[in-house]
Amino acid sequence: MPQNASAAALKALTEWWEDMGVDVDQSEIDAAMRAQQGAARESAPPVSDAPQATQGQERNSRKSRRNAQKSVSDWLSEAESLASAAASLDDLKSAIEGFDGCPLKQLCEKTVVFDGTQGAPVMVLGEGPGGQEDRIGLPFVGKAGQLLDKMLAAIGLDRKTNAFISNVNYWRPPGNRNPEADELAVCRPFVNRMIDLAQPKIIIATGGVAAKSLLDTKTGIMRLRGSERPFETPAGTQVPLVPMFHPAYLLRRPQDKSRAWRDLLLVQARLGEMGVEV
Ligand code: URA
Repeated sequence: MPQNASAAALKALTEWWEDMGVDVDQSEIDAAMRAQQGAARESAPPVSDAPQATQGQERNSRKSRRNAQKSVSDWLSEAESLASAAASLDDLKSAIEGFDGCPLKQLCEKTVVFDGTQGAPVMVLGEGPGGQEDRIGLPFVGKAGQLLDKMLAAIGLDRKTNAFISNVNYWRPPGNRNPEADELAVCRPFVNRMIDLAQPKIIIATGGVAAKSLLDTKTGIMRLRGSERPFETPAGTQVPLVPMFHPAYLLRRPQDKSRAWRDLLLVQARLGEMGVEV
């Protein structure tokens, strides 16, 4: 099989498995891809026969050499200045898309920023894109996203009118592993700025990764859920935050849906107290 055809076949197979609900170990797929790319390099013509690099390619490789020398704290400062310069949610989306400081970016297809209604009273923050989100470029569009939409609809919320959906990390980790601390850290200035710009009345943090990262705690979701937590951005936006089970977890443990339902009722009641009609 030609090299490109086998790469395309591996990708199609991965997507098919994911669509069937199989947990794909992306690290094995990546290893197979790398092995195959190695074989392709060995059979490639010698360098002297290769076409000369264009100016654009040289610029890109200078940029990647410069990027490789930056430390996490360099990237963090860059994220902070890009985030604070964004005057609107659309500006912020472009800034995140242009940011090269999260190593996950090189490993995935799309930067997944937000979906839903800007200025909505409810902001949902998940942990980061999965396979479907990476292909489509929008958060929570796979099976977990479909369940999230149903959960929100149960209390009168939907993306088209009153819910805004994003994540605490904008790039899909390989094999859908949890994002690491540094990966979350470089995204955090963007997350904070998103909250400052969107001014939600309430935040729902779905799953332990999002809840722990936002609340800066090691306490797990089992203990965090069930009540509202105070949250404040460095710029002073104060928003009540309700930690909730991740819909992917609820797909695996439907017996916990009643606890998620209680958390949704908490969100509904809190919105009612604030005079927000949904
Ligand atoms: N899980 C998340 O946490 N976020 C998404 O966008 C999709 C799945």
